[in-house]
Amino acid sequence: PPDSTVISPNLSTCHQSVGYTGHLVYCCPPKPESEEPFIDFQLPDPPSTLRVRRPVHLIDDEFIAKYNKAITIMKSLPYDDPRNFMRQANMHCIYCTGAYNQKYSNSLLNIHKSWLFFPWHRMMIYFHEKILGDLIGDETFALPFWNWDAPEGMVIPKMYMKEPFLDKERDRSHLPPQVADINYNFVESTLEADEQISRNLAFMYNQMVSGAKKTELFMGCPYKIGEAGACIGRGTIESAPHNTLHSWVGSSLNPKRENMGVFYSAARDPIFYGHHSNIDRLWEVWKELRGYKPEIVDPDWLDSYFFFHNEKSQLVRIKIRDVLNITNLGYSYQKVDLPWLNARP
Ligand code: C2O
Repeated sequence: PPDSTVISPNLSTCHQSVGYTGHLVYCCPPKPESEEPFIDFQLPDPPSTLRVRRPVHLIDDEFIAKYNKAITIMKSLPYDDPRNFMRQANMHCIYCTGAYNQKYSNSLLNIHKSWLFFPWHRMMIYFHEKILGDLIGDETFALPFWNWDAPEGMVIPKMYMKEPFLDKERDRSHLPPQVADINYNFVESTLEADEQISRNLAFMYNQMVSGAKKTELFMGCPYKIGEAGACIGRGTIESAPHNTLHSWVGSSLNPKRENMGVFYSAARDPIFYGHHSNIDRLWEVWKELRGYKPEIVDPDWLDSYFFFHNEKSQLVRIKIRDVLNITNLGYSYQKVDLPWLNARP
C-alpha cells in the first residue's frame, strides 16, 4: 500500500510528551533524526550467526561477564551516541508516550495497547542486542530471557541484583526470594510460594491458550492511521503478565512505580530487556502452538514502520513484515518446558 495508509512516525515532530498525567517528559534525541539519512532494513545475509537466547536463571558466569562488559560500554557512551544505554531507554519513552505525531495524520503515535505491541518491542530489543554484541565484537551475543512463566523463573533473577544490571528503583518487598505475582494488581499477594506458583501457571494457561484463541485477543486490536489514538485493545499477554510485572518490579516509593512501572522510564532498568525477551519468546510459542499460521495479513499492519539506530549508528527504517520470522533475523530461543500448558484451571 502507499506509505500514506500505514502507521509511521513523523520524525521531525519529536516533542515533549506526557510521562503520566501532570508530568511532562522530553525523550527526543539531541539531534533531530529527521535530518539524518536513513537506510531500509536488510535481513542479515545467510549464513547468519545464530544468537540463542537463554533463560536468565540458566546462564553461566562467562556469559554474565560478556553481558556485563557490553552493557558497561553501552552505559559509558556519550548521550550523543544513539547506541548509548539511556538513548535506547528513551526510544521506548518516545514511542510509548506519544512523542511523535504520525506521518499522515495528526494523531500521536503510541505503540502500546494494540497490534503494534509485539512487533515494535521485537524491533527494539533486536537492535539493542545487536549493539551489545557489536560493542564486544561478538556476533553470537544474545539477550537472555526472564523465564517468569516457569516456576524457576518466578523471582527476579540473581543476575539483575548486581551492577551493572541492578536498578535501585525497584520494589524492595519484591526482591528475591519473593515469588512474583504475575497478575499483580497493586495489592500484595498473601499466598504461600507454591500456591502463588500454581496460580501463576493457571493464569499463563489462560493468557496463552484459553483466552488467546482468536488472533485479536492475543495480538491486540487493529490500530489504523487517522484513528484518534490507539484502539486500546491490548492482547492478553500485553495486559498481563506484561503490564502487571512492570508494575510489580517498579518501586512502590515512586509516584508511578518508576522505573519499570511506567512507560517513560521502564527501559532504564536492565531487567526490561530480559522481560521483553520473554514476551517476544511467548509470541513465538503462541505461533508455534497454532502451527505458524500468519497471525495478521492486513497490509496496514505488515507495512507499518518505525525507525531505530543499528549497531553502526545508522538510522534504519524497519517494517513489521521484516520481523515476523526470527530465524531470518538470526536468533532463536532455547527450548524450555512450558509447565503452564498442562495447567488448565
Ligand atoms: Cu513498551 Cu514492557 O513496554
